[in-house]
Amino acid sequence: MAVRKLAPEEIQPKSFTFSPENVAFAEQQIAKYPPGRQASAVIPLLWRAQEQAGGWLPRKAIEKVAELLDMPPIRVMEVATFYTMFNLDPVGKYFIQFCGTTPCVLRGAGDIRQVLERRVGDQNHVTADGNFSWLEVECLGACCNAPMVQINDDYYEDLTTENFEKLLDDLAAGRPVKKGSQIGRRSSEPLDGVKTLTDPHLYDGSMIGAWRKRFEEEAVSAAATGEAAAATATAASSPKPAKPESGRAIETEKVDTPAKRAKEGEAPVNPAERKEASDGSKATAVEQRTENAGKPAPQSDKSYVATPSKPETGRVTADAPTTPVAGTPPSDAETRRDGSESKPGKTPDKNNKSS
Ligand code: FES
Repeated sequence: MAVRKLAPEEIQPKSFTFSPENVAFAEQQIAKYPPGRQASAVIPLLWRAQEQAGGWLPRKAIEKVAELLDMPPIRVMEVATFYTMFNLDPVGKYFIQFCGTTPCVLRGAGDIRQVLERRVGDQNHVTADGNFSWLEVECLGACCNAPMVQINDDYYEDLTTENFEKLLDDLAAGRPVKKGSQIGRRSSEPLDGVKTLTDPHLYDGSMIGAWRKRFEEEAVSAAATGEAAAATATAASSPKPAKPESGRAIETEKVDTPAKRAKEGEAPVNPAERKEASDGSKATAVEQRTENAGKPAPQSDKSYVATPSKPETGRVTADAPTTPVAGTPPSDAETRRDGSESKPGKTPDKNNKSS
């Protein structure tokens, strides 16, 4: 991406004033936000300023937006220079945004670029008649109809060198042009016509509720043969018990709880228990043990020194050979990783005390 900076001073206009229509638009946008939050309207105001200035943002327009929104000009400058939707240099009457992303390139965008370079010149260059300028941009979201360009606010898709040259000719001559696909494709349907969803009943409303109607007819038919009544009777006479392990609630109460007592008409809390619970001398009292009073706390006779591992327990000692000599096949190794013999009759390992 090119460095985004303001246009040279020599081409900057000396002033910028919003038209009455755009002042009204700005007031409407600002009114959308709470007091003190008017900066939220910065992008729509910059966009209107760009449209009014002929497709680009002069310095004075940026400063005017800052003034209207009571923002430091540098803050508005940051927004204007960040978003590529804002042009910082003059553009042609027809500003062409050429998609140079992979799907378009695979469908021939390279040829379209050559047309632009030949007829318009380099990017960001306005033709002598002021009609055209172009800029390469990333995917514009019309990949189904690649290659494509955006000219001002409209998309032109399914481009070939022939139809694109004709499009530029028509624009330059002021003739009406066709927006969208240049080969007659509707939306993004397949090139050789629609192959799916072709049933006209899908669009005349006759399919609405068709499945529900079918289910209702089947239900009526089942009821007529008595199947539904039989199924209902079976379900009522042999209900399936809930299984605790299935996560469903168990209906039976198995414990003596206050809720159960209340349900059975008893006092939820036994009066004797309530009295005992309110007795402060018993609450959370821990009786002092007296037999060890005055004696030091018993010490454990266990050592906290780590016990050395024993080969016979299957653990490896530090000095036990654990890796066969390089190049020795495992089958010929003197010992296994655990220090035991790998073959009968071999010299016992000195560390393996159990052998
Ligand atoms: S790649 Fe060109 S529109 Fe998506």
